[in-house]
Amino acid sequence: MVKYTVIGGSASEELARKISKRLKAQFVKANLRTFPDGEGKITLSSEPKNGTIVIVQSTAPPVDSNLIQMLSLAHKAQEYADRIIAVIPYMGYARQDREFLPGEIITIKAIAKMLKSSKVSDVLTVDIHSKISLKQFKSYGRDVSATQDLVRHIKKLVLRNPLIVSPDMGGRHRAEQFANQYNAEFVVLQKKRNRTTGKVKILSENLDIVKDRDLILVDDMISTGGSIVKAAKFLKRQKCGRIIVACTHALLVNDAHKKIRNAGVSKIISTNTVPGTTSIVDISDTLAKAIQGT
Ligand code: R5P
Repeated sequence: MVKYTVIGGSASEELARKISKRLKAQFVKANLRTFPDGEGKITLSSEPKNGTIVIVQSTAPPVDSNLIQMLSLAHKAQEYADRIIAVIPYMGYARQDREFLPGEIITIKAIAKMLKSSKVSDVLTVDIHSKISLKQFKSYGRDVSATQDLVRHIKKLVLRNPLIVSPDMGGRHRAEQFANQYNAEFVVLQKKRNRTTGKVKILSENLDIVKDRDLILVDDMISTGGSIVKAAKFLKRQKCGRIIVACTHALLVNDAHKKIRNAGVSKIISTNTVPGTTSIVDISDTLAKAIQGT
């Protein structure tokens, strides 16, 4: 049987503790102290045992500082580990997977190389934004889905003639999977994002199918809330019932939560890949099983 040590980065401490319990592993906390100039100093709470080390650290905001912490922890783990598994439940920069405008840098590719050169042998993520991003990790990258955990939770809600909605074509497959597991129909909205300003627009029109039905709006992530706000306002104009948002990673930057509620969304349900007020779905079991399968 593999003996694990789990190191919990400061962005994912609670989730790391849960994973560690499930793996019956030693838990090591990464203490972070931030100096006035913004530099972080990371100290391990105890010495990891030799063997397989699992580092759990989402690269949620503050994204760059959490990324540096992940890389630093991997660097330190090399002193003890035969094998390092990096669990990055929310993988920041995964939306920067291609050169949309000339001169743009595919940062996710640079991150994949940095992790590899830190002797990380496996990278595990949850609902990474795109397949293209995952490909940058070649054979050492694996993505797991939080859909079954979200569906299990949402099935407990009493909804009127529920319908699954994806806010854009990019989320079609996710919405379809959700709908299959939830046993409902799904529809996909047409969304356009301005690559320079980042603003989004819903291009869909007259969607009678949503009328008087409770909707589950499924997305991989919420950052500024722009996509969900536009979708919710459009769906409300189509006279839908309640709107429940189910997403894996709720970053909810600035006043995103308030904007989404003001747009007519009744509830946001997200997973603990990013801790916060909406992250009520625990994915530690899914991750622990995936770690054992690597
Ligand atoms: C876009 O393709 C993604 O799936 C999300 O819908 C998007 O990135 C969320 O960002 P925001 O909340 O800023 O619109």
